[in-house]
Order: sequence, then C-alpha cells, then structure tokens
Amino acid sequence: MKIVHAASELFPFVKTGGLADSVASQAKSLAAFGHDVAVVLPGYRAVLDHPDFRAAKEELELVVEMGDDDLHCGIFSLKLAPRLTLYVVRRDEYYDRRYPYGLGNRDYDDNAARFVFFDKAIVEILRLAGLKADVVHCHDWQTGLVPVLLRAAEQRHGETLAIGTVMTIHNIAFQGVYPARDFALTNLPEDFFTIEGLEYYGQMSMLKAGLVFADRITTVSPTYAREIRTEKFGCGLEGVIRARAGDLVGLLNGIDTEVWNPATDRLIPANYTPDDLSGKLACRRELLRSCGFDTKFEGPIFGMVCRLADQKGLDLILACRDFFIQNDVRLVILGRGDARYEQALREIANKHPDRLALSTSLDEPMSHLIEAGSDFFLMPSIFEPCGLNQMYSLHYGTVPIVTRVGGLADTVADIEENPAEGTGIVVEPEAASLRQGLKRALALHADQARMFEIIGRGMRRDFSWTYAARAYEALYRDII
Ligand code: ADP
Ligand code: GLC
Repeated sequence: MKIVHAASELFPFVKTGGLADSVASQAKSLAAFGHDVAVVLPGYRAVLDHPDFRAAKEELELVVEMGDDDLHCGIFSLKLAPRLTLYVVRRDEYYDRRYPYGLGNRDYDDNAARFVFFDKAIVEILRLAGLKADVVHCHDWQTGLVPVLLRAAEQRHGETLAIGTVMTIHNIAFQGVYPARDFALTNLPEDFFTIEGLEYYGQMSMLKAGLVFADRITTVSPTYAREIRTEKFGCGLEGVIRARAGDLVGLLNGIDTEVWNPATDRLIPANYTPDDLSGKLACRRELLRSCGFDTKFEGPIFGMVCRLADQKGLDLILACRDFFIQNDVRLVILGRGDARYEQALREIANKHPDRLALSTSLDEPMSHLIEAGSDFFLMPSIFEPCGLNQMYSLHYGTVPIVTRVGGLADTVADIEENPAEGTGIVVEPEAASLRQGLKRALALHADQARMFEIIGRGMRRDFSWTYAARAYEALYRDII
C-alpha cells in the first residue's frame, strides 16, 4: 500500500511531545512491513537545522491559493529508510521559527494561516509530486483540513488523489479553533461552514473538519476512544465523536525499541537487561550526580518528564509537595511549559535543593537518564490519550505511578489489584489517592525482593510497534 502520513511533528526532526515519537515509529514499522510510506512535515527551523536535512533535495515549487493570495513554497524530499520518504513543506516566513506553535504560553497569531497552508500544500504534493496514495493518514488538528481539502481538489481536478483518509486524535484537547474570518483561507465553498462541517460555535475548527470528513477516525488507546464520547473527556467534540462512533477505533501506540531500549541506549551511561540490572545502578548514580544530589543516596528516586501542562497532573504533584519534602526521597522533574508550574516547582527546588531537581529545558539525553536512573516514574495525568513514558518506564525497569485514565489504564496494571501480573501503582486523579500511591511506593521500595520482581515483570512486557502497525495495516485494507 501507499501510505502518506500528514503530521506536524516527527522524531528526531521536531518534537514537542509524544506525537513525534508516535508518527515516527508508526511510519517506520509500516515501511518495514513493505509498504511505501511518506511523511509530510512543515519545514520548522528544527527540521531545517537537523544534520540529516542537509541531504534533502528540492523536488518542486508549489503555488498555494490562500484566500485571494497565491503563496509559494518549496517541497524538499529526503529518504529516511528503504520505502520511507520525508517531504518537507518549506516556507520560511511561516515555519522557520524557534518553536513550532508559539512562544511561551502564547500561540503565534498566524497559526490558522500556517496550518491551512500546510494542509493545502499536502494536497498539492499528492497532486503534483506523483505521490498518489492509497491512504492519507492525518494526525491531530494541524492536519485536520486535509480530508476535506483533498475531496474538494479531487472534484475540481477530476482525479483521485487518495482512496481513503484516516484522522488520528492524539489529544482532543487541542483543536485548532480559529475565528470565522479565517475560513476564507480555505477557499472552500461557504456551505462547508455549517454545523455539519467546519463550523464550531461560530468559529472554524480544524480538528472537527478532520473528524467529520475523514473516512475513519482512530485514537491512541481503547480507553481514550471510550472516554472521548463523554462530556468529561470530549472537550466539546463528544457529540461529533458519538455521531461517528461506528467509524472510531482506539489503537494503542507502541514504543520504538531501537530508540528506547536499556540494552542498547547510547544516551545512558551503562546498558542493562532484566537479567543483569547492574547498569541501572550506574545510571542511578549518574542521575544523582547530574542533579547535584549525593550519589550515595539509597532511598527512592521519583522521576517525571512531561510538558508542564495541567493535563499532566502537576496540580496533584504540587498538592503532594509535603510528601517529597518530609520523606527522604529525591524527585527529578524535566519539563517545560506553563509558567505557573515552572514557577511553583522552581520555588520548591530553590527551597529544597536536597529534594527536588528541576530542569526546564528540552533535553532528550536527560529524558533517557531519568527513565533509566529513577526507581519510580510519575504520570498522574488528569487525562492521557495514550502516554508513552509509562511504557518507556516499564521497559527501563522504573515502576510507573499512573492515574487510571486513557492509555495509562490500558498499559499499567496495579500490583495490589493484580498481584500476579501488576506492573505499577495505579491511582485515581485526586491528591489523596496520589498521596496514598506514593506511600505504597515507599513500602514497595523497602521490600527489595518484591521491587525486583515487579521491575523484571515490567521489563519483559512487549510494547513494540508490531501489534499497532498490524492493526493500522488492517484498518487501511478495510478502508480501501
Ligand atoms: P504528550 O505527547 O502528551 O506530551 P507522551 O507521554 O505521549 O505525552 O510523550 C511525551 C514525550 O515527550 C516523551 O517522549 C517525553 O520523554 C518527551 N518530553 C516531554 N518533555 C520533555 C523535555 N522537557 N525534554 C525531553 N523530552 C521531553
Ligand atoms: C498526545 C497525547 C499522549 C500520546 C501522544 C502520542 O500528545 O497527549 O497521551 O501518547 O499524543 O500519541
């Protein structure tokens, strides 16, 4: 099959979260199965600066109609692996910026134009770069207009550009909602701006467009697929989701075990396997050292790597601050985002440098070191479509402490509820429940035999992409 992924992030070129990892490993697995796979990405500065991009070649120049304007862009291509090609839409005025979506908490003012343009460029690539696809697979709101623009272009030019389209929701909380006047940028007929189309409470919603016009909808875990039908998790789109429930399926992400594997990881100081955990001890010492803690510390280390957003349960962590101060534990947090969380955590770290180490940079090596060197990994998310870090944690022998939501509920079983199969500590998304879970972690850490048993069990779980990629393959076949 010929599969074109349309996405705004792709590891290792540009990453702000799990979307980048998810698209990269999915595309790689499908190419390895023998399919022809392309990924189309905006030419962000991170992409242009990536060393591999130097080998990219300009394929063609496109003119994209945006309202009354004709705007140009260059399309670059780069072979990433056999049968896997990256296409980059280069328009520096839009994408050559330090961050993909905005500065600090503020989105760029021209995001509607930036992503309408991107989606139109994708359709033009399909039309003009000989990229005709069996399936065009769109990821998140940034590519939500592709299905409708594709059908509009097919009608106008009288040709088939793709047999089917898939829209994957990685996070329904981000929707790409813009003022009604931005609808003019799409050049779609007015009758698409209705409640059956792109209109969303008087505005234009890019995610809704994808949910309405894609042939199939997927999301990244079975539990999240159920949750988003409800008002609590649907973020206003639960009605649209319910109307399309028959076309929606939740397929759990896998992890890329070439990138995330304690036995081969080159970003950590020592490698290890479930049968020989001595390397994990070396990682622990290096983590303690790099955080400025005493390297001889033997108590529990709690790690956390995430966007500092309310989704990630930072309010629960802050509500449990006394636990981390009063007990002889270490907490290591790597994350950037919301200024109020950065500030609150920075205050604790300044006051209690012997307890909390905080880094607010984007630091890929550090994220691996935290996974490898910690005893417990914290993911007390309020909602979590899939979550990748809990799977990385299990693989790295770091016991996850997660809330019972979305993909966390699908990947971690509680060790008390499932004594024979449990791999982590599962709590409810409330401060009291998290505090209880943290206390259970202390008890588990004190019982080293049980701790090793749980670690070994987690490390032997298989979260590779093979299952998910086969499921996507079946879905594509079904559409075609
Ligand atoms: P989300 O996509 O909602 O942010 P996921 O758990 O799916 O959550 O994926 C988050 C990914 O981003 C993980 O690979 C995590 O290690 C990474 N990450 C988050 N913050 C940082 C950071 N500051 N530095 C390095 N990696 C980070
Ligand atoms: C989103 C979700 C996260 C998921 C990731 C990859 O960013 O918040 O839960 O793991 O996408 O699908």
